[in-house]
Amino acid sequence: MKFFVDSADLDQIAQLNDVGLVDGVTTNPSIIAKSGRDFKEVIAEICALVEGPVSAEVTAIKADEMIAEGRLLRKIAPNVCVKLPLTMDGLTACNKLSAEEVPTNVTLCFSANQAILAAKCGASFISPFIGRLDDINIDGLELIEEIRTIYDNYGYETEILAASIRSVNHIKECAIIGADVITSPPDVIRKMADHPLTDKGLAAFLKDWEKTGQTIL
Ligand code: E4P
Repeated sequence: MKFFVDSADLDQIAQLNDVGLVDGVTTNPSIIAKSGRDFKEVIAEICALVEGPVSAEVTAIKADEMIAEGRLLRKIAPNVCVKLPLTMDGLTACNKLSAEEVPTNVTLCFSANQAILAAKCGASFISPFIGRLDDINIDGLELIEEIRTIYDNYGYETEILAASIRSVNHIKECAIIGADVITSPPDVIRKMADHPLTDKGLAAFLKDWEKTGQTIL
């Protein structure tokens, strides 16, 4: 399973990248606004930092303008992936940009039917939002399962990029279901390493080691 970081925080991305846990990055207009940075500048910096795809989202509403924005965003760096909303205009733009071999991430997916349309329009990634569905009492993980089944039924190559991740459990369940990618806030990825028995065990090992009076280096 690939790990994307859902953030525009360069320090956080760099830290996880050093550990070897970053296969790509996703952003959206809200994340960019939160960063307080210039959109194109921050995307360029993230693209220079990580090797994998970096999703940069268009903000136009009409397909023609989305395509123009997408082409412009692609000029920032070769690993820019154009993020498009799951609307008929977004799907039209996805179809056209995919034909130009531009990598695309169709976002704001909340149903299996929407995911079918994105795959038919050649999306590189489909982003179903788990947390936002959970927020309205709809099981977000069930959507990931449905899309996995449908894509496997027809051999669609679009990768399932599970988004709106809120917990380590979301990530574990996505791995069990077989999502291709998760995109997560950095702190949730870090929490995956936590276990009280690891902390307790390490403390005991170090205490016993101290008694030996030895050093390794
Ligand atoms: C995905 O690409 C989105 O940027 C993101 O996962 C949305 O998450 P949120 O629902 O926590 O805002």
